[in-house]
Amino acid sequence: MEYRGYDSAGIGIDGDSPSDPYILFKEVGKVSALRKHVDIGIPTPAPGNEANALTSPIDMKKVFVSQTSMAHTRWATHGVPCTLNCHPHVSDPMTEFTVVHNGIITNFKELKLVLQKRGYVFRTDTDTECVAMLCKYVYESQPNKRLNFQTLIKTVLKELEGSFAFVFKSVHFPDEIVAARRGSPLLIGVKSERKLKVDFVDVELQDDKIAVPEVGDANGLLAVPANGNAPAGSNLRRQQSRAFLSEDGMPQPIEFYVASDPAAIIEHTKKVLYLEDDDIAHIADGQLHIHRLRRDDGLSSVRAIETLEIELAEIMKGQYAHFMQKEIYEQPESVVNTMRGRVNFDNNTVTLGGLKAYLPVIRRGRRLLFVACGTSYHSCIAARPVFEELTEIPVAVELASDFLDRRTPVFRDDVAIFVSQSGETADTILAMRYCLERGALCLGVVNVVGSTLSRETHSGIHINAGPEIGVASTKAYTSQYIALIMMAVQLASDSMSKAGRRAEIIAGLHDIPGQIKTILTMDKEIQQLATSFAKQNSLLIMGRGYQFATCLEGALKIKELCYMHSEGILAGELKHGPLALVDENLPIIFIMTKDSLYPKVQSALQQVIARNGKPIVFITEGEEAPADVKTVVVPKTTDCLQGLLNVIPLQLLSYHIAVQRGVDVDFPRNLAKSVTTE
Ligand code: AGP
Repeated sequence: MEYRGYDSAGIGIDGDSPSDPYILFKEVGKVSALRKHVDIGIPTPAPGNEANALTSPIDMKKVFVSQTSMAHTRWATHGVPCTLNCHPHVSDPMTEFTVVHNGIITNFKELKLVLQKRGYVFRTDTDTECVAMLCKYVYESQPNKRLNFQTLIKTVLKELEGSFAFVFKSVHFPDEIVAARRGSPLLIGVKSERKLKVDFVDVELQDDKIAVPEVGDANGLLAVPANGNAPAGSNLRRQQSRAFLSEDGMPQPIEFYVASDPAAIIEHTKKVLYLEDDDIAHIADGQLHIHRLRRDDGLSSVRAIETLEIELAEIMKGQYAHFMQKEIYEQPESVVNTMRGRVNFDNNTVTLGGLKAYLPVIRRGRRLLFVACGTSYHSCIAARPVFEELTEIPVAVELASDFLDRRTPVFRDDVAIFVSQSGETADTILAMRYCLERGALCLGVVNVVGSTLSRETHSGIHINAGPEIGVASTKAYTSQYIALIMMAVQLASDSMSKAGRRAEIIAGLHDIPGQIKTILTMDKEIQQLATSFAKQNSLLIMGRGYQFATCLEGALKIKELCYMHSEGILAGELKHGPLALVDENLPIIFIMTKDSLYPKVQSALQQVIARNGKPIVFITEGEEAPADVKTVVVPKTTDCLQGLLNVIPLQLLSYHIAVQRGVDVDFPRNLAKSVTTE
């Protein structure tokens, strides 16, 4: 899970009895640093218990009977990366309750204040710590201590605002785990020797009849029933879910893995079930029970157990130095996977199964509204002209955060398309829910199967690029680009007048994988080019029309990987300001591959050269190079696909500059792969 966050990591293991210490190891930096710490064998004391810190290694050969442990990689949102702020977080120095958390608790300040008034001592800067303490508070507020673990956690969750995926443990409930989500992804892997009896798990709705204590305003935080007892029935052990029984109706040996991404568990099992928002999963005595925080939501009463289709090799680096490099090199194949079974090169048609039933509604739409963030946003910019040309429907492309900030008007006859590699980007998900509430048709263009966006949209397209681990998005961009082009072509399939253009695009798509391969053979050349940029502080990338998206995407790669200022500039805007920057020293890349806007780009290039600019110019194969400039020659395709090819030298360039500048390419500072918080 390191790619999700890597500024610190921690692991917590149950001892065998309440008297055994709960063993924590926490370390700042990447998982390798935590691994070294574990190898040394001296645990990290729980905050507040530093006086009892062990000074010699624990017996690492000891075998525990305990069956639960949990680990977390952190990407700091509240408090700097340091051991104290690292998860798992504990409720107190004796580690009565332990929690790992993805997401943000937005009302943590209020909760903290209330708990502080009751004598609880906070030791970290995180929002998560208050959740661990809240568990302890609820536990201590019931004199007879009869709440079971999941009911107790349900009480806690009802107090929380914000987004979360949690795993809870407690010394009071040894060998039990409670996991819960709202807004952040969470799934459970199931490993059993024998075949599961059914491929779903029942949601135990009956449990919602239990009157879980609610907030008691008058009394401050929580009003636990005066007698502290759980309502009748809450301690009843439920029957094992049908899925986990063998044919003879007996429970079978089983292992459960809770994770926020399937990549974390596929080396153990490919059977997973995805939790829905407000699900509470309780794992105890080898059994999994799924409960609901609330019952009035009309969700399905089962959670399907699905079989993952990814292979372990897909999430390993193999022969490559970095995931990013591997992913750049996978593109000839990943773009084929995006098109596989969808593009018919013989009769020039595209069939995206998920969209078929919605085509008439989309065509009648008043507007196509693309919403995304970062690289995914750039793929929308890249595809906008072809949507406008082929569908003749007005198109808006929105950055998800800004779209939400503006409370943009959305109507029932809008078609909203959410593009996201992870399908878990918080801003994009919130924008989707905003559009769902307003009755728009919501479509997802997503890489991760089973992600929140892919599950909550009405329909959509999986881009099938395969797992993308490198923080910098590369193969997802080219696959999103192709998926959107395919969508535009399919939408225009009812137009005779567009038949020629459709055929041209499909012929272009046919050649793309081979052309990407050709570009990859230029790697050495690009690596040399990178040397000339490695010591610079800034790089402008200019182009127009279809290439504007390429400029933006190239500049984003340079920024995030090379820690260098970079801007994608629309050449048509040059005279309105950016031209003032140009002199003989400013590094510039000019994208001048040939399309209908070629003459305009030529004139922009002349303006730059006239100011003593020394641009490096991308041109298409067969074109004459402008005099006295260094060029990068890219294979030629049809105009709307040219950006797919042009972006690859920029991906390679940013990769090589980053390597030459000594940046840890797969883990650029301050960034995480999935931005699951607003
Ligand atoms: C690009 O290299 C970034 N990692 C980032 O801009 C990313 O595209 C953005 O955070 C959106 O992510 P998503 O596609 O998973 O929604």
